[in-house]
Amino acid sequence: MTALRSEVNADVPVARPGEFAPLVIGDMVVDPPVVLAPMAGITNAPFRSLCRRFSQDRCLYVSEMITARAFVEGHARTLQLASFGDDEKTRRSIQLYGTNPETLAQAARTLAEEWGVHHIDMNFGCPVRKVTASGGGAAIPVKPGLLRRIVRSVVKSAGEVPVTIKFRKGIDASLLTYLEAGRIGEGEGARAVALHARTAAQLYSGQADWSAITTLKETVKTIPVLGNGDIFEPWDALRMLRETGCDGVVVGRGCLGRPWLFGELCAALTGEEPQSPPDLGAVLDTMTTHAELLCAFFGEKHGMQQLRKFTGWYLKGFPGTKKKLPALHLVKTLDEMKALIADLPRDVPYPEVALRARRCKDGKTQEVSLPQGFLEARDEDLVIDDPEHVDGG
Ligand SMILES: Cc1cc2nc3c(=O)[nH]c(=O)nc-3n(C[C@H](O)[C@H](O)[C@H](O)COP(=O)(O)O)c2cc1C
Repeated sequence: MTALRSEVNADVPVARPGEFAPLVIGDMVVDPPVVLAPMAGITNAPFRSLCRRFSQDRCLYVSEMITARAFVEGHARTLQLASFGDDEKTRRSIQLYGTNPETLAQAARTLAEEWGVHHIDMNFGCPVRKVTASGGGAAIPVKPGLLRRIVRSVVKSAGEVPVTIKFRKGIDASLLTYLEAGRIGEGEGARAVALHARTAAQLYSGQADWSAITTLKETVKTIPVLGNGDIFEPWDALRMLRETGCDGVVVGRGCLGRPWLFGELCAALTGEEPQSPPDLGAVLDTMTTHAELLCAFFGEKHGMQQLRKFTGWYLKGFPGTKKKLPALHLVKTLDEMKALIADLPRDVPYPEVALRARRCKDGKTQEVSLPQGFLEARDEDLVIDDPEHVDGG
């Protein structure tokens, strides 16, 4: 049976044999070249575990952003979010966020030498007001000297552990920094660069500008270039790889409430027709597994609190399930959740409308907040103290 596809992907063929090379980042070989995007509040160990299961552990699964200062100071919640599940023996991947090269270097050293991570990604794309207003995340590429200094010190401290950087196109249409950021990453020893093809002002609105990925690929020649933005179906990944020539894809919102997307991506990128998405019964089973993993990792109270935000994403588009959401958004225990979904029918096919439905972040744009005077002195690489802890995106 052919898999469900939306209209935009009606004619996209699966990969030809050998069409896409594995993604090589340091010692890591990721085959097919698919990466779970770091997402704050989402890509903790339980969610990564779920995505690993659906893709036979073949992709790269990056943690949510971990604030370097909170990590170095040993904040309990940060240490928990930075930790890995028992099933994460290979390709342990963590994203660091911070603005101070020394603090970031210290965090990288500890992660490499004591925590046994295999990959460190760095966040230079977070558009959250609190973050950019203090000169972090998407604001950092505005200061090429600071970006250079941060990447250099983290690469040095991480030793053999490969470091990659992730950034956006720039602040807004009038201040595009991605090509310079790519060159800096390449020059300072990053092992790959990833572009979310929107500006910070765009947040998550409109369509990602894949042509910027093409331009970055033409600019950064010696390390892999990863494309990111608007991969909701496996065929979107095929189109992005083919249209931009990028070396791998980074997948964010498309897998929210759809962790099986990684299995579909593995199939399509290796020349197989993906299976059709699960029916409601199988979706409910996946949601239950996710809840069990969250409870085992965070304890039942916090685990079920975490699960609540996923319930609407899992049930998206299935007729007759909306009435369950108010109770599911308040659910406190695993048994309560199981009882709430017990009377839902199982034999309901996956709704096409759910494939590309907006799952997180609305279509708004913003005027990006930067520290005062930040734009006047772009080549002054002043260091602003790291915030204690940030939940971002
Ligand atoms: C809920 C949420 C949290 C995010 N948190 C992070 C983060 O911690 N670090 C980061 O680099 N990007 C973060 N992002 C951005 C994603 O990694 C990705 O770049 C973005 O969602 C675009 O990809 P997509 O179109 O596949 O969703 C976040 C996105 C979402 C939706």
